[in-house]
Amino acid sequence: MPASESMPLPILLPDQPPFNLRARILTPLAAGGHRFEADGLLTVDAAGRITSVGSFADTPGLGPVFDLRPWLVLPGLVDLHVHLPQVPHAGLGFGTPLLDWLRRYVFPLEHDFTEAVAEVVAPAVYRGFAAAGTTTALMYGAVYEPSLDAAFRAAEAHGIRAVIGKVMMDRLTYDETLRPSEVLDLSLRQSADLCDRWHMRDNGRLRYAFTPRFAVSCSPEMLRESAALAKAKGAYWQTHLAEDRAEIAEVARLFPGARDYLDVYDQAGGLGPRTILAHAIHLSDREVARLAESGSHLAHCPASNLFLSSGIMPLGRYLEAGVSVGLGSDVAGGPDLSLFGAMRVGGYVQNALKVATGDPRPILDPFAWLRMASFDGARSLGLEDEIGSIEAGKEADLIVVDTARTAPPAAPALDDPAEILSTLIFRSHPDMVRGAWVRGRRLDGPPG
Ligand code: GUN
Ligand code: ZN
Repeated sequence: MPASESMPLPILLPDQPPFNLRARILTPLAAGGHRFEADGLLTVDAAGRITSVGSFADTPGLGPVFDLRPWLVLPGLVDLHVHLPQVPHAGLGFGTPLLDWLRRYVFPLEHDFTEAVAEVVAPAVYRGFAAAGTTTALMYGAVYEPSLDAAFRAAEAHGIRAVIGKVMMDRLTYDETLRPSEVLDLSLRQSADLCDRWHMRDNGRLRYAFTPRFAVSCSPEMLRESAALAKAKGAYWQTHLAEDRAEIAEVARLFPGARDYLDVYDQAGGLGPRTILAHAIHLSDREVARLAESGSHLAHCPASNLFLSSGIMPLGRYLEAGVSVGLGSDVAGGPDLSLFGAMRVGGYVQNALKVATGDPRPILDPFAWLRMASFDGARSLGLEDEIGSIEAGKEADLIVVDTARTAPPAAPALDDPAEILSTLIFRSHPDMVRGAWVRGRRLDGPPG
């Protein structure tokens, strides 16, 4: 037998737009539901925009086509909450309550996150994101301005879509050299300068998020002034909310005039459609209703919530109330950079919650988890017209997955998209993502 008949040809991936892809395609749709093409064709123009999505048979007469079959093209995933400097400590401190964990594992690490460290860590983390299928990440940096510049420079060079913010803290902080009032002024000025330098760079691929760490680390002035700056500059505002019982008690002690944790941020003018709040595990009905009313977004971090013994987020209750929820890895609170991992843990936890409480709501299916990790994350960033699904007119932020490369091996050949997706979530393999693109430009990281 000639070699060409016995050996499959290697699958070649395009590096730059324009290109045409033939592959299996699965995507949530902006209008709701999802689309699956068992033999699909996707065309991307020279600007990196998707010009058509359809079945291969219905799209005759094209030029050269990259044939990725039997691999599966999905939208690039959106990590709505992750700490860039903490990635080297992923997996450390299992079961340590939040405030102890911050003092023991996080503050020393972030204290040492200098520009030189960021120049080494950031490119490796971005390659790790792409290898995990994440093409957009909303990140916290550490406090030092030059380390933030380094993180942005690395994102600019790598090609990932990145929203990053300098962590702001004028109490419970790791930079003991300055008085709180000096920290407040410096933090606001440096954050504003970083925003001016980086927000909307490369036609909006890089963006800035004002990032007061959480109410425990911030004076009312820090919260208020950072929220005002974010609004004035059209940037994002991100912080942590109601993650841990001891944290909530501390917030109640520090802010006696607030009705509850969310009210601290509300009084600061922090709520609204450009706001992303991480965790939000322990909320009253009032807080849930106010979140929905304000149009703020939650970053659900199920792996972190279990790793740090923080609790179980009542996701069904929030969704029913109309709260917008995307998915976050929260590394290093969560040990896994992969959002497939976050989908898996989230699925398990919500299943356990249902069994334990007798909650009659149906659990979320694999399509709902994929939507949360892609389209809903994009919408939380106001990018639902640009990314988050594979539809004509959107930018080509894509990943391709070898669906046979799951763990354990010997995956069955499946035709049903719900079953394929279920295997990607529940038996995902670190090497199953083979390629990742932002605006049609291939990212370094996946093995190819
Ligand atoms: N709350 C305040 N800072 C942090 C952090 O770095 N990680 C987590 N999980 N929660 C926080
Ligand atoms: Zn966090």
